[in-house]
Amino acid sequence: MKNFVSVNDVTDIDALVQKALQYKANPFGDKAIGANKRIGLLFLNPSLRTRLSTQLAAQNLGIEPIVFNVDKEGWALEFEEGAIMSGNTVEHIKDAAPILGSYFDILCIRTFPGLKNRDDDYSEMYINQFMKYAGVPVISLESATLHPLQSFTDIITIQEHLLDSPLAEGCKPKIVLTWAPHVKPLPQCVANSFSQWVNAWGKADFVITHPEDYELDEKFTKGATIIYDQKEALKDADFVYVKNWSTYNDYGKIYENDPRWMLNEDSLELTNNAKVMHCLPVRRNVELSDEILDSTNSIVTQQASNRVWAAQAVISEILRAQ
Ligand code: CP
Repeated sequence: MKNFVSVNDVTDIDALVQKALQYKANPFGDKAIGANKRIGLLFLNPSLRTRLSTQLAAQNLGIEPIVFNVDKEGWALEFEEGAIMSGNTVEHIKDAAPILGSYFDILCIRTFPGLKNRDDDYSEMYINQFMKYAGVPVISLESATLHPLQSFTDIITIQEHLLDSPLAEGCKPKIVLTWAPHVKPLPQCVANSFSQWVNAWGKADFVITHPEDYELDEKFTKGATIIYDQKEALKDADFVYVKNWSTYNDYGKIYENDPRWMLNEDSLELTNNAKVMHCLPVRRNVELSDEILDSTNSIVTQQASNRVWAAQAVISEILRAQ
């Protein structure tokens, strides 16, 4: 694996899941692989899980992680080619990225979308500019439109549950991605990325439910069944993934905040005693109710814990390819 910015960088999802589960069973078995190497974790936005799980994963592999909160501690970076830098940006990515590439063996970057201009966000300029100029492998810690480490973790977590409770021969799990209300416009990254990974994995009946006008980019959802009626969508679901996103077509807006879209015990009754997933952080009693989050159906903690093994499998694959 050269870079890890989307599911397209993975040749065999099942093999990568197995690798992650092997690391979960034996975290320090590959401690020598990263000896005398360094991995830079650059954050242009806040994080709890991604930051800490990636550091832990790196340490498990013997590679030294160094975190740099670029947004708080670094010079303001310019990403536009040919920019006349007479405004607030101080350093061009063309100058900064090769230096970072000389300090580190792998660079990991977290950026968010501006949610102002869809073409800008979906061009993935920030992470693409790092890949263009760093000269070392790049891992996405979430980009403007995708969150691949999160989605890989989600597949690992679903697979773990399927190993514990196998379905009948020939049956596929039903996975439902449901939109949930939120108080502010959020990126489409997690929903895009989850859709992309579940479709690429190809081992589930995949349904997406959201209010009308909340369609995601078809590039990621093609292959899923879209149902606007949440109750109908939830019927017999084995896994329910809850996530808010802002509008894609009329970009970055909130059209709908009906609290009836928040999953509760009544809606869960329609499912096959589904496991409930969320990438976190979650706004309790806005996106997901206390009753669900505190129930045995919720697997959000397991999901977040698995972030370590997902990151470890990816870093290990990149180290092996160097
Ligand atoms: N799910 C996730 O990416 O969490 P953080 O924003 O805390 O890293």
